[in-house]
Amino acid sequence: ALSPTDSPRAEIGVIGGSGFYTFLDNARAVRVDTPFGAPSDDLVIGTVAGRSVAFLARHGQGHRFPPHRVNYRANLWALRSVGVREVLAPCAVGGLDPRFSPGTVVVPDQVVDRTWGREHTVYDEPGPVVHVGFADPYCPTGRSAVLGAAAGQSELPAVDGGTLVVINGPRFSSRAESRWHQAAGWSVVGMTGMPEASIARELAMCFTSICLVTDADAGVEGDSGVTHDEVLAVFATKVEHLKDLVRASIAALPTGAATCECQHALDGITLPFELP
Ligand code: ADE
Repeated sequence: ALSPTDSPRAEIGVIGGSGFYTFLDNARAVRVDTPFGAPSDDLVIGTVAGRSVAFLARHGQGHRFPPHRVNYRANLWALRSVGVREVLAPCAVGGLDPRFSPGTVVVPDQVVDRTWGREHTVYDEPGPVVHVGFADPYCPTGRSAVLGAAAGQSELPAVDGGTLVVINGPRFSSRAESRWHQAAGWSVVGMTGMPEASIARELAMCFTSICLVTDADAGVEGDSGVTHDEVLAVFATKVEHLKDLVRASIAALPTGAATCECQHALDGITLPFELP
């Protein structure tokens, strides 16, 4: 792997499953260290549709890190340190709405954080206190790019908006928890969406979650609960389409200065340290 000093730069980051390895052209591995420790894996920097992209395998090589052990702070910091300001984050989720059959892609506009015990902030030390806004957790520009790209394909039906509830895992939900999430009106349930999205905001990076429904969770269909094998099997049948969608989304992202608020999240705030 290259060291960060002679590393190529990247404008767009993709945090995804290991199935995404073969997704970049002219790819080079880059090892990055951060004040929060090592990211899940080397970054793989290459191009998609002429745009420079850094890919990071969220769970590391061989899917080593369970969702509650992923070093989200190091992952986002590492991406930012090679220049990334715009992150696309595909993930597998359970569908809480019976209309969302496996293979549906939900592009959420809200999130509920039910995780605990994770390192969830980069602003963790005494010093200037930083409170970032998170009313709208996801980047409107990134969401439009993904939805526009989704409209140009028919393999993965896409849903504009909805709430992702993130559970701590690694176990799946009980039926009662699943029914509760459904009754609250939340759309999909996953294990990795937080604190990934909020740390991106803390680092003033645009962040777009792309949720691929793999199952109906525990409370919706009634008969059988979800299993890891089911999630993996469905994900495997859809991952090539998901990669195509992420590639098309990258191509659809506007070039030039961002017009959204995400990258201004820290304007006027005194930071305890410099961002990379
Ligand atoms: N990831 C994929 N399916 C899931 C589910 N039902 N619950 C939580 N995370 C998931």
